Amino acid sequence: MDLEEVTRLFSERFREPPAIVIRAPGRVNLIGEHTDYNDGFVLPLAIDRAVWLALRPRTDRTTHVWSSEFTETVQFPLDRLEHGGPSWSEYLKGTAWALAAAGHRLSGWDGVIGSDVPIGAGLSSSAALELATARAFAATSQIPWDPSAMARLAQRAENEWVGVKCGIMDQLISAIGREGHAVLIDCRTLDTTAVPLPEHVDVVILDTATRRGLVDSAYNERRRQCDSAAAFFGVAALRDVTPSMFEARAGGLDETTARRARHVVTENARTLAAAEAMRRGDAPALGSLMNESHRSLHADFEVSSAALDTMVEIAQAQRGCHGARMTGAGFGGCAVALVDQGAVPVFVGRVAVEYERRTGLVPRLYATGATAGAARIGT
Ligand code: GLA
Repeated sequence: MDLEEVTRLFSERFREPPAIVIRAPGRVNLIGEHTDYNDGFVLPLAIDRAVWLALRPRTDRTTHVWSSEFTETVQFPLDRLEHGGPSWSEYLKGTAWALAAAGHRLSGWDGVIGSDVPIGAGLSSSAALELATARAFAATSQIPWDPSAMARLAQRAENEWVGVKCGIMDQLISAIGREGHAVLIDCRTLDTTAVPLPEHVDVVILDTATRRGLVDSAYNERRRQCDSAAAFFGVAALRDVTPSMFEARAGGLDETTARRARHVVTENARTLAAAEAMRRGDAPALGSLMNESHRSLHADFEVSSAALDTMVEIAQAQRGCHGARMTGAGFGGCAVALVDQGAVPVFVGRVAVEYERRTGLVPRLYATGATAGAARIGT
């Protein structure tokens, strides 16, 4: 999907070119997994793949949207937002609801949505859809574009309208992504620091061709375990537990909760170290931290899967690969690897063959650049 394609789809349906075109990217997280809802640190980047939305303002308070991915139209009145209809439309209605709840008066639009962010793959297709929707309403309703405020509203849409208790990472990176950079986010203060990707290495997305199942209940269970660990340590969030505090007192926790907390405490430290390694341009150091992160997500946080473990193990064994780990919520979807640019074609070929041989599944592997956050394009 790109500017040309979404413009063509819009013009076909509405017999005129769109007045506004918006792009909101998916994301891949380099490191800092299951830390955002613990007020911790994450290091994601906005990827090449994105949700594209072409539109023209309407004079009334109705929104009509056609999704090229689902070949379906949805129409909703902004004065009476109700649940129901296809699940993709809940992200649009939820975003409209959150904007209105924040006091914005919205006007409607006719739009066409296209996306090449795979759904359920851990690349945040839903956050991209929410940010594209927010950007559309901002454009048609004269709302000043404040990326981090909009990310928080999109997160509210997901938490309260869609009912998924996600943290802030996905919406924020889709809003504030920076070309050529990953972004270190402090999820407590929402301070962001762009860190350049090391030269001569590529970020490669490794899609296991499995989709996460039962992720919501497992995700919410992890959140509860983290909250009870924070209560045990007497702090607001696990972000406040240092490695030495953890070592001194973790013996008082039950074994499972202690492992969950250990993941978060060590992952926060790894994420800060990873940002430092990137600033030094030290790809090997960044890669080892990614490998360590995967071990911790597998053994302590227990959110990996057989397919993800197989993919990561194969990737880590290849020449030119500095490190690999699962990315996103887990239980399926994608892993991410850091690979020397010159080695990428052979890496991709070998990993694909070996993964298919071991699992019978056909993976999709592609290098991605780091792109800018949600924005109007062209017009
Ligand atoms: C999902 C959530 C994020 C984050 C990750 C795990 O992507 O939407 O908020 O918690 O899982 O790091």
